[in-house]
Amino acid sequence: MASSIGERIRTRVNRFTHGRVGGEWGGRHLLHSRPSASGDMLLTSNDYLALARDSRITAAMTAALEGQGGPLASGVFVHGEHPQIRFEQKLADHMLAPAGILCQSGWDANAGLLQSIADADTPVYVDNIAHMSLWAGAKNAGAPVYPFRHNSSENLRERIAEHGPGIIAVDSIYSTNGSRCPLESMCDIADETGSVLVVDESHSLGTDGPDGAGMVVEFGLTDRVHFRIASLSRAFAGRAGFVTAPDSDFAEYFKMESYPAVFSTRLLPHDIAGLTATLDIIRQDGWRRERLIEVSAKIRRELTALGFDLEDSASQIVAVQTGPDLHTFAVRDFLEERGIFGSVFCPPATSRQRTLIRFSLHAALTDSDVDRIIGACTAVRDRFGAEAPKPRGLDESAQSIAN
Ligand SMILES: Cc1ncc(COP(=O)(O)O)c(C=O)c1O
Repeated sequence: MASSIGERIRTRVNRFTHGRVGGEWGGRHLLHSRPSASGDMLLTSNDYLALARDSRITAAMTAALEGQGGPLASGVFVHGEHPQIRFEQKLADHMLAPAGILCQSGWDANAGLLQSIADADTPVYVDNIAHMSLWAGAKNAGAPVYPFRHNSSENLRERIAEHGPGIIAVDSIYSTNGSRCPLESMCDIADETGSVLVVDESHSLGTDGPDGAGMVVEFGLTDRVHFRIASLSRAFAGRAGFVTAPDSDFAEYFKMESYPAVFSTRLLPHDIAGLTATLDIIRQDGWRRERLIEVSAKIRRELTALGFDLEDSASQIVAVQTGPDLHTFAVRDFLEERGIFGSVFCPPATSRQRTLIRFSLHAALTDSDVDRIIGACTAVRDRFGAEAPKPRGLDESAQSIAN
């Protein structure tokens, strides 16, 4: 007899609880490690410019919290002289974009944008390790989704030749390995094929480009990239997302079309006050970007010299490949014994047996912090070797789905 829906759901839950946590992981949850203690170094936060508890931001947020408040309602109702509208224009100006829309998260920005611009007749080409929210938005739009090999212009051209012009979706900096997208060649392909290019700047807005305006501005590509999105939970240290728009008509259209924009409560006044103050600081505090570049370059250089394959990282995201989950437990625990906490990325954020430990570097790292990270990685190399154990018995071409 066919199983009931309830039983099928229970089977799925059991597969996780007993198959994965209880089985493959031997009863421990791979993402739940020991609580950090004072003196430990947390490289788990995407607060790249070390702004999370900046007193200028908390003061702006506190004043807003103590102020009038605002209705808990969807953003579709916001118009006219409203702090959200003012912030949208301010951030759009900073990114040299005509207009922009503030969203509740980077996920909502990506999913809402792809849902608003793709459709069943518009193929979406997504870099293999681009963020899952781009895939989700394309699927919500009913669009056919065709992945292409990470950063491969050649493979992208082949896919477009096969399926026709469409929407190309890439990250400027990839969140699992810190590699950078060859943006100019993506623009060339979009121009040549009549495709639309979407760039997720979550990991480059605030950290790259003039005054932190992002990589698209840095390379003079603002007229060639059709849409940019960003999570504001990285360098902006808040909880929000942003979409640039070609004009105010598109912004109004998006606010009525994107499901998260219409059907989910908007940000609160203190969120917007915090983000507004953060943007000013990001523009002013150039030293934070300089320090981030300096520490990231040193750590990448030293870890590469130790023999780690950093998979083309060229940013503040540096990942040590740990392969199978059980090996990851061992490396993770070993690092944590030395007070170094990174983020474990495992399926569905990576492909099977290609688990990694990601360090999100930040501008507040001191020289001795940097030495401590390098020292701990040297000990990892001496104890386990620099290369991740090879995946066994699995399809190595299994596609990676990035976080
Ligand atoms: C490239 C990229 N885009 C979008 C997101 C989603 O952002 P948020 O955490 O604000 O939803 C993330 C976060 O994982 C990301 O790394």
